[in-house]
Amino acid sequence: DWTPGNVAEELVTAVREQVGEDRVLCALSGGVDSAVAAAIVQKAVGDQLTCVHVDHGLLREGEREQVEREFVEATGVDLIVVDAREQFLSALAGVTDPETKRKIIGREFIRAFEQAARDVVEDRGDEEHPVKWLVQGTLYPDVVESGGGEGAANIKSHHNVGGLPDDLQFALVEPLRTLFKDEVRQVGLELGVPEAIVWRQPFPGPGLGIRIIGEVTAERLEILRRADSIAREELSEAGLDREIWQCPVVLLADVRSVGVQGDGRTYGHPIVLRPVSSEDAMTADWSRVPYDVLATISNRITNEVSEVNRVVLDITSKPPGTIEWE
Ligand code: XMP
Repeated sequence: DWTPGNVAEELVTAVREQVGEDRVLCALSGGVDSAVAAAIVQKAVGDQLTCVHVDHGLLREGEREQVEREFVEATGVDLIVVDAREQFLSALAGVTDPETKRKIIGREFIRAFEQAARDVVEDRGDEEHPVKWLVQGTLYPDVVESGGGEGAANIKSHHNVGGLPDDLQFALVEPLRTLFKDEVRQVGLELGVPEAIVWRQPFPGPGLGIRIIGEVTAERLEILRRADSIAREELSEAGLDREIWQCPVVLLADVRSVGVQGDGRTYGHPIVLRPVSSEDAMTADWSRVPYDVLATISNRITNEVSEVNRVVLDITSKPPGTIEWE
């Protein structure tokens, strides 16, 4: 019988057999897949597992704290947080091309992770039990997609923060390989992963870096983070979290338009709301979010984020538009 309890138990047992006495590493992005994978491995081999969360500065408000506090409290994992914000910002300085951004973010991520892996080996790895395994939150559709010839992966160089090259020389533990997303969520709940993480909507590995159209800077990230946090808060408040697949909030950093606020002229940036409904992200439609919810989001963003004087709604389906703007 398929029950979350049975499945969780089977997966835990399988990981325990696979890993034995060796040490294991897991990159935790804050997303549901890596979190549930880590929770399974934690249950299987306890403190043989060390999780690494790379804070690249491209996360949304509260995400690092969610991993650092809530996830650790709920699961008891051993966690290292790497503050790589400066490293990512300087690597991204002056870069505007989407694919270049993605490649840089992927490369810097690996760099930060490798450094952390070396530190773990030094600090926690005893000679007899070196770090041998790397946990990956690969799901069944990922397995099919990378084997199949859909070609969608070529449109953008997706990298899952967690998707690492082979020359890292770890063997992979992929406890979610047989599961679909909704099954991962059920297993996660069964293992006590916090609801906020279990129900988190998809968020791309390169994070806010590909939601700033133009160069990524600390100031622009701060503007986008505030706008995004307002949009998320209001969509949740309206009870739309599970109805909407995800809602990228995009800053058109190189565009300015004239506005008026109080007695004064403004010359600010537009924010784009991109709420979509989808089954699997391969295709999507724009979500018919109620007008009053959109109005509240728009009013709050323009009132509370002074650099933004215009909020626009993306009403493009996928195809032809992708979900993310870059
Ligand atoms: P697109 O923009 O291609 O996005 O329609 C489809 C889905 O994938 C997410 N996405 C990513 N996820 N690493 C990820 O882990 C990435 O580099 C990446 N790029 C896009 C996107 O948020 C959407 O859910």
